[in-house]
Order: sequence, then C-alpha cells, then structure tokens
Amino acid sequence: MTPDSREFRGWTRKHMLSLGELSREEILHVLDTAEGFKEVSTRSIKTVPTLRGRVVVTMFFEESTRTKMSFMLAAQRLSADVIDFSEKMSSTQKGESLLDTARNIEAMGVDMMILRHPAAGASYHLSRQIGCCVINAGDGTHAHPTQALLDLFTIREKKGRIEGLNVAIVGDIAHSRVARSDVQGLIKLGAKVTLVGPPTLVPRAFEQLGCRVTHDFRRVLPEMDVVNMLRVQSERITSNVFPSTREYVRLFGLDDEAVQLCRPDVLIMHPGPVNRGIELAATVADGPNSSILRQVTNGLAIRMATLFLCQQAAAA
Ligand code: CP
Repeated sequence: MTPDSREFRGWTRKHMLSLGELSREEILHVLDTAEGFKEVSTRSIKTVPTLRGRVVVTMFFEESTRTKMSFMLAAQRLSADVIDFSEKMSSTQKGESLLDTARNIEAMGVDMMILRHPAAGASYHLSRQIGCCVINAGDGTHAHPTQALLDLFTIREKKGRIEGLNVAIVGDIAHSRVARSDVQGLIKLGAKVTLVGPPTLVPRAFEQLGCRVTHDFRRVLPEMDVVNMLRVQSERITSNVFPSTREYVRLFGLDDEAVQLCRPDVLIMHPGPVNRGIELAATVADGPNSSILRQVTNGLAIRMATLFLCQQAAAA
C-alpha cells in the first residue's frame, strides 16, 4: 500500500520534513486547515490560544526574511512563547555540533524547533535524535515543505483548483529546494509540471520526477496556467552554468514582452527573494498577474496550520 492509497484518518505527524512523505490527503488537510487560520488574520484580535504554554524556537543557519518572520509571527499568533536562536552569537562558533546544540535547547523545555540549515537532511537528522517537533524551514537543495504548501494554497485560492493545471517552474531547478518540494506537491495534486531553464540548471534527469523538461521558455509560455519563476542561486553555484546574465535574462527572464505570450489570466509566482531585472522584470513582479505578496500573506496561514497540526500530533 502506498502512502497515497492509505485512507486518511487525521493528521498524525509531529514533524514537517518534506512533501515527499505526505500523501495527497495530508497535503489537502494542511491547505484546508490553513483556510481557517487565514480567517484569524482578518480579525481585529489576531491571536488564538492554540499553543499557549508551548515554546517554539527558530534556528536559522542560513539567511531568511519571509520564512523566519512568518514562522515567528505564526507562533505568536498561536500564543506560543517564541525564542530565536542566533547562530552567529551561539556556541556553534566554538565548535558545538548541530545535534548537541539542539539537545541543549530541547533540555530547556522547547516543544518545537524550526530549522533552516545548508545541509540537506539536517531536519531529518534532528527529528530522529530529539523528542520535540522538528519543522524543516529549508535544508540545502533538498526540501522547503512550507514554501510548497503556501504555493499550492495560493494556486488553489487564485485558480480554484490544482488538478489539471499546467504549471511551469522556471530557472535554477538544480539547486532549488523550492522546485523539488513544489514538484512533489503539484504532481500529488494532479497538476502537469514543466521544468524550464538552461540544460546546466535543468538536466533531463528531472523527467524522472514525473515532469516535462524544456529549454525553450517562450515556446511553452502560451500553454501555462501558472508560471513560477525561481532565483538563480549563485551562492550554491560553483561553475559557469550559462554564458552571461544577459543571455539568461533573454532566454529565461519574464519581462512584459514575454507576458504578452501568456494567457491573460496566467498566475505569476516567485518564492522570493526576487532579483529584479534577472528572472523577473520589475513591472512583471509588481504587475496584475503577480501573486508574490499574496504568497507571503498565505505563508503565515500555512505556518500557523503546520505548527498547530504538528503540535496536536505530538500531544496525542
Ligand atoms: N522563500 C523563502 O524561503 O524566502 P526566505 O529565504 O526569505 O525565507
């Protein structure tokens, strides 16, 4: 029996590590739970007592604006006590390992750890070694489950469905944890995914994920319901993967001229941070088809749902 064919009997996971391990029903359950939490953010009093008395720690070993702040705000909206671990000012600088750091923090009575780390598998590693809930906020090039969940939530909200939609994910797929997590979620929910970019960043091997691969962005644009533009992750690239930024922008950037090739109601997405003038023209990033800030708003509801469900499973 595959995870997808199991009958869904309610959320039982205390960790959120990857969309690869979630069934279609579990993904839909998170999205449905987030609908309720989105409503909370429209009230004049935006807090609920769901996690009162619980302690949530954010542990970010890589830079973040959106994920870290929305997890902190989500935990505060759920009335948790929130503490932020600062790597630069911590004893990891004196050689303490990730596991020892986590064990010491857990010994203070922390209930949930939200971890971003450059090593793929870091969250899995901690989840097997410590007792509290572990939420993966991005591990190397491997997974970014809550980004994919907020992307799915936004597509469903704007398009009314996910099944049968044509979705292009464009750019640096090879180094993108967002792309991997988005692909897993989109395919489980029945979308048709096309990966687009230069051969060095989108090798044919990605077809094994169940996607179409193309290097001709302009040709596939007219078919797309959703176009998700990704940042070129220069911090993870060690060799020249395209001749020049100018060439990349010409072939794989989305500017006003390229948008003219799209369906009028195309949904343009980007997980952020955006490099304006590279993957997206500023006019497109701020244009009527862009859902970039809506994605950020929805991220708060998805992270509230994730914290709520995982803590509930841990307490059961
Ligand atoms: N999308 C995303 O993960 O953004 P941050 O790196 O700012 O968290």
